[in-house]
Order: sequence, then structure tokens, then C-alpha cells
Amino acid sequence: MKTLLGTEEVKAAYRRYAAVYDRLFGAVFEPGRKAAVAAVNTQPGQRILEVGVGTGLSLHQYRADAEVHGIDISAEMLEKAREKVEMRGLAQVKGLMEMDAEAMSFANDSFNCVVGMYVASVVGDPARMIAEMRRVCVEGGDILFVNHFASDHRLLRGFEKAVSPLATQIGFHPDFELQTLLDLAELELVRVQPVNMFGYWRLVHFRNRAAPATNATRQLGYQGGYKLATSPSSAAE
Ligand SMILES: C[S@@+](CC[C@H](N)C(=O)[O-])C[C@H]1O[C@@H](n2cnc3c(N)ncnc32)[C@H](O)[C@@H]1O
Repeated sequence: MKTLLGTEEVKAAYRRYAAVYDRLFGAVFEPGRKAAVAAVNTQPGQRILEVGVGTGLSLHQYRADAEVHGIDISAEMLEKAREKVEMRGLAQVKGLMEMDAEAMSFANDSFNCVVGMYVASVVGDPARMIAEMRRVCVEGGDILFVNHFASDHRLLRGFEKAVSPLATQIGFHPDFELQTLLDLAELELVRVQPVNMFGYWRLVHFRNRAAPATNATRQLGYQGGYKLATSPSSAAE
């Protein structure tokens, strides 16, 4: 697995973004955040970890009886999240910590749900982040990602490949493959749901238990690459 962004590069990119992040990526990524939070809000009293919580755009959406913790590697992004928690009086948010998702200080099995929105294609080493997300989540708990994945469309795929060398400047790598996430997670797949504009991003919901003998790709029912449900209602189970 190639490492595309170093920790300092990520910090530098999000130091630049922090002041304008909500204006640039608030509304446009909102449906994905809503879909992920809706999936975890189905149960009362959940202990939830949001990895790469950024400016905290999703925090007010968690139900009031949840216990939400957020981590991020960018002090400047976290500062914006703390302002929101204070301004909105979000009592369900119990902690916001500057922490590397690739080496968390939480004990094993600390959370019922671990959520990573728009972060899998940003971290330097997604394999380490996913291993950590599995470790801190209870067996059978929920692990959710929302992310942009490399497109199936030939022209878009070409564009994504062309701009991928700019990952350091833009703060994420646009050619991150869904297959990579499925292979790295090796978890039971609950569903893949297209979200945001043109369904160009996806919500990927795993249960924190090893994938059955059939691997994640076969769970989707495809061979030789992947293909996805085209609407939330027909999402693969
Ligand atoms: C695209 S932003 C997403 C923010 C937020 N989740 C949202 O919905 O808008 C990616 C975030 O991941 C954070 N991040 C990147 N690498 C990280 C790491 N190794 N550990 C913790 N946070 C990280 C960045 O600092 C940034 O705030």
C-alpha cells in the first residue's frame, strides 16, 4: 500500500482549509454525513467515535443520549469543532481530541460505533487507520465510512488519475479505490450506498466482525471489479 500523504502534509493542508472548510465542503458533503449519522442514530445510548471529525459539521446530528468522541490530527480543524460544540451546547459530545487515527490512545473495545467521514482517502496509511478503528470498536459494532472512491467511469477515472499527483496540495487522493477499502477492512459488509451529488461518494457500512468466507467483493455479488447499487433502496446487502 503506497503512502501518499505524510502527517505533516495532512496537517499543513488542513491548517490551510480550516478557515474556509465549512464554506467549501459543508453543504456539498452534507447528505453523506446525514446518511452515516442516521445509520448510527438507530440505537439509544451509543458510544460513538468520529475519526477525522474535522470542523465538527456532523456533531449536532447525533442523538442526545449518545456519547460522542471526536479525534482529528489538525488542531485548527478541531478548534472550529470546539466552537460549534460550545455555541450549540452539544451535551452529547464528550470529548474532542487531537489524535492520530493511525495510533489511537483509546483502549480496545471502547466504542459501539466508529465513523470516518471523508478521511479514508486523506490519512497517510489507511490500513493502519482501519486496523485501529477495528481495535477500538466492540466486536459486532458498526464501522462506517463515507468517502469518494475512484470512479467506474472511464473519463472520470482518467481525470482522477491525472490529478492524483496533486494529493499533497488538495489534501486527499482522488483515486482511492473502494476495493482497497473492502480488502483492507476484511469485515462483514452491511451495505454500500451512493450519497451526495450524482451518488459520486459512498457510505460503506461494516459490522465489526470478520468477513465470512466469501470476501467483501463477493458479498456485493460481483466478480472482477465492483459495481454498486444505484440507489439507497437497492443498496447491496
Ligand atoms: C476531508 S476532512 C473531513 C472532515 C469531516 N469528517 C467532514 O465530514 O467534513 C478530513 C479530516 O481528516 C483529518 N485527518 C487526516 N489524517 C488524519 C489522521 N491520521 N488522524 C486524524 N485525523 C486525520 C484531517 O485533519 C481533516 O480534518
